[in-house]
Amino acid sequence: MIPHIENRNGRPVLMVEDRPFILLAGEVHNSDSSSPKYMEKIWDIAGQLGMNALLLPAAWELIEPEEGRFDFSLPRALIDQARERGMRIVFLWFGSWKNAECMYAPAWVKRDLERFPRAQIEKGKNKAGRQVSPSIPVKMPYTTLSYLGTGTMRADARAFAAFMGFLKEYDEEKQTVVAVQVENETGLLGAAREVSDEADALFHAPVPADFAAYLRAHTDTMTEEIRQAVLAGKEAGTWPEVFGEAAEELFSAYHVASFVNTVAAAGKAVYPLPMSANCWLDKGGRPGSYPTGGPVSKVHEVWDYCAPNIDVYCPDIYVPQFKAVCDEYTRRRGALFIPESATHSYCAPRLVYTVGHYHAMCYSPFGFDDIGKPFTAVQGFLFGMDVNDPALKTPQKFEEYAAFGHILREMLPMLASAYGSDRLQAVSAETDPPIPAPDGNPFKAVPPTMCFDGFRLSVGFQSPMNPRSDGACLCLKESENECWVVGSACSLSFSSADPARPHLDYLLVEEGNFENGAWVPGRRFNGDETASLSLSAPSILHLRFFTYGDAN
Ligand code: DGJ
Repeated sequence: MIPHIENRNGRPVLMVEDRPFILLAGEVHNSDSSSPKYMEKIWDIAGQLGMNALLLPAAWELIEPEEGRFDFSLPRALIDQARERGMRIVFLWFGSWKNAECMYAPAWVKRDLERFPRAQIEKGKNKAGRQVSPSIPVKMPYTTLSYLGTGTMRADARAFAAFMGFLKEYDEEKQTVVAVQVENETGLLGAAREVSDEADALFHAPVPADFAAYLRAHTDTMTEEIRQAVLAGKEAGTWPEVFGEAAEELFSAYHVASFVNTVAAAGKAVYPLPMSANCWLDKGGRPGSYPTGGPVSKVHEVWDYCAPNIDVYCPDIYVPQFKAVCDEYTRRRGALFIPESATHSYCAPRLVYTVGHYHAMCYSPFGFDDIGKPFTAVQGFLFGMDVNDPALKTPQKFEEYAAFGHILREMLPMLASAYGSDRLQAVSAETDPPIPAPDGNPFKAVPPTMCFDGFRLSVGFQSPMNPRSDGACLCLKESENECWVVGSACSLSFSSADPARPHLDYLLVEEGNFENGAWVPGRRFNGDETASLSLSAPSILHLRFFTYGDAN
């Protein structure tokens, strides 16, 4: 079968060549994939980091430079490069939207304002100033295509279908391309909804009855803000009557999601690869300050209704609240697909954590070739230089990411086959810091603990022996008395989970590596090394132990 999503143990899993797959990926900078020559060095860096896939923009303007004339030489060259290196690709369709703007639409679309109307955030204006935030009294020039432009939607859908047709013809057999993101960070900036005459008329017309009924039937999964608005509104009527305060955002989401669905459906009709929609997070802001109508968590029910051809909503995570965002995006459907994340020093621990804890389909640092380099001013701004946590201000060490990348890539079949089961768990210092003791004694802090059937693993982070705050630890249970541990900057303490056999002793502790799927042991640990078991640099341990009681 072609790449697809399958439910395994109640969790959606990406299947490639009929086997569970994990995208240990990286997203390239926006312009890199426009030049296969430039990409040579980027592929090399990805290989050094242990990545098995890249997320690569496919720009509408380069694929259909003139209306109806398609050129697939660029994606073909990128696919060839991936194949030479045994890598996979997720293409990012930069069509009508890129970061809530229309930068990547072809010139023939940009110039024809009649056929491809612009979104109005100020009545009658094709380009207007948008206030960046209430505290910054500056307006940025803003323009994008209207989500009500049916001509735009049709042209975008036709181009996307042609692109998917090329992928089917060139790649169906080899499956180098395993998924496609439809558009990039959709939504409207500068206003909660468009304000053209057409938009006003639709906003004050009746809400489609099926849609209103769907939302009223799905309040159980909604965020509180949207639930309240839906419950308080009338059952039928105009958008403000039915959805009150939330009407503008729901109106935008309805039209953006429907547009994206039309594009995705046209592509799926030709070649039904898994399709995703990524998201610029709302960060608690007011509608208009983030791309409104895009798949932020609070409008997922709208997207579910309007965009059934989108398989997964993906958070672009540059905020410090990593776990809160992942929890929110897994709350309804379970799949976590992170197409973009920051490259500060939680970057590698988050890789380990998302695979081990969330059983993620994809983890992908954005602009990964910057790993190990000092932050640029843009990265400093994006990653939040205003935060206190020093780890967020420190670039990820290249060697550490590479070490984890290679370990997970080698273990991929074992890890992926445990997806959806509780045999695979993880904790990290960022997401599971020790709970301080009431008297403040650091030796009495309660460590995070993974509980398996038969044994427990408590992990020491940020302890007096191990002060680093960027540790991570993943444990894969092999059997009741055997497991694999991947981690760094942590100490390990195993205990029995069987009250009838409360004591646990090691039989085997060895470090090593997987090479071509086979375990190659290194040092056999005992003595001082097992008396206080800890991992300083990223590594794998193989352990066997037994449990016993006091009376034989
Ligand atoms: C989010 C976008 O989706 C990416 O294409 C890129 O622009 C990053 N932001 C930031 O650089």
